[in-house]
Amino acid sequence: MFHTVLCDLLGIRYPIIQGAMQGAGGPRLVAAVSEAGGLGVLPTFGGTEKELRDDIENTRTLTKRPFAVNITPIGRAFTESRAAICIEMRVPIVTTGRGDPGSNVVQQLKQAGTIVLPVVPSVRHALRVEAEGADAIIASGMEAGGHVGRVSTMPLVPQVADAVKVPVVAAGGIGDARGLMAALALGACGIQLGTRFIATVESEAADWVKQRLLKTEETGTMVSSLMTGKPVRAFATRILREYEQALTGAGSTEERGSLSTRYLKELRHAPVEDRTMAAGEIAGMIRDIRTVREIIEGIIKDAAALAEKLYRVSREDARQ
Ligand SMILES: Cc1cc2nc3c(=O)[nH]c(=O)nc-3n(C[C@H](O)[C@H](O)[C@H](O)COP(=O)(O)O)c2cc1C
Repeated sequence: MFHTVLCDLLGIRYPIIQGAMQGAGGPRLVAAVSEAGGLGVLPTFGGTEKELRDDIENTRTLTKRPFAVNITPIGRAFTESRAAICIEMRVPIVTTGRGDPGSNVVQQLKQAGTIVLPVVPSVRHALRVEAEGADAIIASGMEAGGHVGRVSTMPLVPQVADAVKVPVVAAGGIGDARGLMAALALGACGIQLGTRFIATVESEAADWVKQRLLKTEETGTMVSSLMTGKPVRAFATRILREYEQALTGAGSTEERGSLSTRYLKELRHAPVEDRTMAAGEIAGMIRDIRTVREIIEGIIKDAAALAEKLYRVSREDARQ
């Protein structure tokens, strides 16, 4: 019932992608998602070349199903070297996040037969990566955990779907079957989830992160550029709030630079209650730790029941 073009493109059973998660999603989580019928995605942000090679090999010992590697374009040399490793190790699918990987990298991956899915925050970015050869596009709204743009998922997905010809995947603020159904209605052919997969048995997130997630409300995250220099949605904490507050009074680039140095140092030595981690607004809906299989199969089962219910309601309305 939920077999879409995304399933055919990626060779997966369900149209569900686990978004790459630095610090929360290593080989164990990635393999569990792929084994359960979705697409697991390994992160590379901040990791060394050896770590990426090891992660790919370790994931392959846990699953024979397709999985992807995410390349965050944090610099030309980094992006090119990670793409070269994906080509050499025959990784079948690559996603990219936080900005444009560049047409050279996309072309190299495409020439090697790699399927490329960039994550984009706007229609303009979607059109650019489609012109560069993207096979599908992940449109990610600002509700998402991690790097964000300025448009929410609800208006972003249909506008991207109208603008491009390739399949579109919805990301940001999706955590259950209602999110899948909404995404399909908006013109997407699949969903990418990050935050929901943190609260899983298989996620490699630290225990304090999982426990914090279970207590975080829908207003408990905020966007701050402290962690990476670009806007990141993460658990709202005293340090992030104070940094953003201080930034509003900072005029020069030097002042801003010294503020970020000061607050980053504080963050590194912070007690657990002041630590932060990327997390999305969907956090408010996550109240239990489940296995990856329970989440994926639960979404598909509940979506089928929801589709049935919507059909019934619309028929009853038509009869009145
Ligand atoms: C802890 C965490 C780490 C993330 N790291 C990355 C990353 O390394 N690369 C990337 O492209 N996206 C990253 N993301 C974004 C996710 O891949 C995904 O697109 C996003 O979480 C989807 O929104 P949701 O959190 O509302 O489900 C991260 C998200 C979280 C929560």
